[in-house]
Order: sequence, then structure tokens, then C-alpha cells
Amino acid sequence: MNEEIFKEPNKFDPSRFDRPIPPYNFVPFGGGRRVCPGYEFTKLETLIYMHHVVCNYKWCVVDPDESFICTPAPTPVMGLPIKLQSVK
Ligand code: HEM
Repeated sequence: MNEEIFKEPNKFDPSRFDRPIPPYNFVPFGGGRRVCPGYEFTKLETLIYMHHVVCNYKWCVVDPDESFICTPAPTPVMGLPIKLQSVK
């Protein structure tokens, strides 16, 4: 939550991880003796979840004409909302 390391820390912005993070500033599972024992399990669980969302749902952009701004990377103005539709 340190603004100097993560600008706008409350904003959902996965692109913040595109930039290098100084060492010891991102430790979501803790470390040392009390490191989260669910670390590997939860990574696997997340991959399984993503597998099902990708394989079992059709993804449609809400507004196919949504424009992009360059920041400098092309970024969808509305955040590219999508609709998920079950394919089963
Ligand atoms: C995205 C998922 C998860 C995150 C971000 C997370 C994060 C953390 C963090 C930051 C700690 C404290 C580590 C420390 O004190 O250094 C912790 C502890 C712990 N986590 Fe997780 N965790 C996750 C999932 C899980 C799962 C799935 C389990 C069990 C199946 C689990 C079980 C535990 C337990 C038992 C501790 C206490 C360890 C201790 O104090 O010795 N966690 N977790």
C-alpha cells in the first residue's frame, strides 16, 4: 500500500506488475518460517479456475467499438469489459 512503490495502491491495475518491483516489496504469501503453506496449492487452484473459465465460457467484448488511448501502451478507455456466456 506504499504509494512510493505502488502508485494508486487501491486501484485494480494488473499492469503495475509489468514494471520491476524492488526486492522484498511484493510478498503476497509472506516468507520465512510462517510463509503461507497454501502457496503452491492456491497457485494450482488459480490455474485450474482459469482453465475452466477459458474452456467453458465464450468471451465477448461488451463494446467492440471501444476506443484505445496510448499511455504509451494501447489501453482500452472503458477497461475492456467482457460478457461470459456458458458454452455448455
Ligand atoms: C491467494 C491466496 C493466498 C494468499 C495471498 C495467502 C497469503 C498468506 C499470507 C500473507 C500469510 C502470512 C504469512 C506470514 O506470516 O509470513 C498466510 C498464512 C497462512 N496461509 Fe495463506 N494465502 C493464500 C491461500 C491459502 C490457502 C489456500 C491456504 C490453505 C489451504 C492457506 C493457509 C495459510 C495458513 C495455515 C497460514 C498460517 C501459516 C503460519 O502462520 O504458520 N493460505 N497466507
